[in-house]
Amino acid sequence: MKFLSGFSGFENNFSRFVNRFSYEEKRRSLGENAYFCGKIIFMRIDIITILPEMLEGFVRCSILKRAQDKQLAEIHLHNLRDYTADKWRRVDDYPFGGFAGMVMKIEPIENCITALKAERTYDEVIFTTPDGERFDQPMANTLSLHKNIIILCGHFKGIDYRIREHLITKEVSIGDYVLTGGELAAAVMADAIVRIIPGVISDEQSALSDSFQDNLLAAPVYTRPADYKGWKVPEVLLSGHEAKIKEWELEQSLERTKRLRPDLL
Ligand code: ADE
Repeated sequence: MKFLSGFSGFENNFSRFVNRFSYEEKRRSLGENAYFCGKIIFMRIDIITILPEMLEGFVRCSILKRAQDKQLAEIHLHNLRDYTADKWRRVDDYPFGGFAGMVMKIEPIENCITALKAERTYDEVIFTTPDGERFDQPMANTLSLHKNIIILCGHFKGIDYRIREHLITKEVSIGDYVLTGGELAAAVMADAIVRIIPGVISDEQSALSDSFQDNLLAAPVYTRPADYKGWKVPEVLLSGHEAKIKEWELEQSLERTKRLRPDLL
């Protein structure tokens, strides 16, 4: 991540915010994996899960639906049980060593990943796990530049460690808490990644001005009426003076970040 991370300190955050690069400059600066096909970037996410029904509604709604309708992204769900060889479609087994809980078996996972890899090349094979690298906006930005990624949702006590050693290229956690399974983590990641693909959100800049895009929280936003029972919108936003409005936006961002998330500065 050359552009959006790797800097620290207040001065750098300030100047990065002021000297905003265009969306395409940012994406180009993010390196070789940037996939430009004229103006269109297309991304495919394959999610491997034992609970596809948990994600089916989610991937057909809101931003993920819009991205797929516009043919900017495809999200495919794969039921891990379809890749088992035994008649009970078992995906887990007892752990060696007599530990508690069940462990996800190698075979179905390897079968599924191998089948997907036979069709195309993947940039990352991600495993969702509470002991993974913390998911954040810079990671979402980097992943959104990829063409094809696999997300394997963890379950039970974990997966046979050999999968992590031999098949997984990245382990990701969405926070320091333990979820029942990795499906929610996969949903969070897919949403954050897909929404920043250019063209998914109608105004590209609106994704760029999200909180965290410059390690700064976003400025407050308001809509009509300008005066609601005496609760007034800041005067400057009604002035039509673009430079002053930009200055106000930056001041607000910095003030909110200092007050609410000083760790970001
Ligand atoms: N699976 C269970 N807990 C998780 C977490 N916090 N992040 C990612 N995957 C998980």
